[in-house]
Amino acid sequence: MKNIIDQIYDTGQVTRDELLELLNKLDEGSTAYLHERAHEKRLSVNGNKVFMRGLIEFTNYCKSNCMYCGIRRENKHADRYRLDTETILECCREGHELGYRTFVLQGGEDPFYTDDDIVSLIKAIKSNHPDCAITLSIGEKSKESYQLYKDAGADRYLLRHETNTKALYERLHPDMSYEARIQCLYDLKEIGFQVGAGFMVGLPGQENEDYVNDLLFLMKLQPHMVGIGPFIPQQDTPLAHASSGTLEKTCIMLSLVRLLLPKVLLPATTALGSLDKKGRERGLQAGGNVVMPNLSPTNIRDKYLLYDGKICTGDEAAHCRGCIERRIQSVGFEVDMSRGDHVDSLTQK
Ligand code: 5AD
Ligand code: FES
Repeated sequence: MKNIIDQIYDTGQVTRDELLELLNKLDEGSTAYLHERAHEKRLSVNGNKVFMRGLIEFTNYCKSNCMYCGIRRENKHADRYRLDTETILECCREGHELGYRTFVLQGGEDPFYTDDDIVSLIKAIKSNHPDCAITLSIGEKSKESYQLYKDAGADRYLLRHETNTKALYERLHPDMSYEARIQCLYDLKEIGFQVGAGFMVGLPGQENEDYVNDLLFLMKLQPHMVGIGPFIPQQDTPLAHASSGTLEKTCIMLSLVRLLLPKVLLPATTALGSLDKKGRERGLQAGGNVVMPNLSPTNIRDKYLLYDGKICTGDEAAHCRGCIERRIQSVGFEVDMSRGDHVDSLTQK
């Protein structure tokens, strides 16, 4: 398997058959080798830096009904909340004090906030903190809406594709369209956002063939960011009794993405940290170079529960800032508090 890994390292190219063979045959030794090569690749692009993003989960209302997600519309046990503008701006102020220069505004697909609301919010944050990047993660919208957000000053947009196997996508997302989601990602790219796609690992029924679809799709889309985390069941969803994805498989995907898209911004996700005490550290060692600590107010943190066992739900922003810094340093990496734009978008400016 080492020859396929070396080929991906050297050329960034791989065929569907080679990827499938690799995933089917990876053993302990070749997996360790894959992580080593991914680590080398990350060092060659951004050194040992880990970029920090402050995450603000500003609404857990959602009109969608994703089978895996704890804030799905039909979850009557979810304790719903929305943050008002002043509270969001206060989170940014606190985040800025702590050194954050990227704010990620994430929410369910909540029609309560109009395009005008989102535009005003972006403008307010940019006017308070002109040195910061704004990342939106608020789901599927029309291309016109995305353009309004971009014009207002938003820099980046996260929209995981979740899985690039159409049949699996449709099973997991009643009343959503696979094609529409993929179209959103191309719209976002065309508008000029730094775009984040991504997928979950260990979804019920997900096989190596499906991961191959995800990886090939990412090679085609060429996103700036890729969010990959293990699926973790949430007790009030239809998938409550399914098993979680594994740390090992998630780290394999992180390493492959690092080799296939060398410059990509790749978070060691909160879900990975929730699955395993050392999950985020392991994710960084597998090729991850971003972490997204929580800046949400503590009184609502335990309500944004996409999955069970989520970490940091009782912690203050300042606590997470220190905690994550120690974790990053414990595995030999260095915290980078700059905006941390994708290297290609810097040369375009
Ligand atoms: N387990 C892990 N990740 C989840 N997400 C949603 N529900 C779960 C879950 N049960 C992920 C999705 C979404 C992101 C914000 O969180 O991939 O895009
Ligand atoms: Fe939040 Fe460790 S990052 S407590």
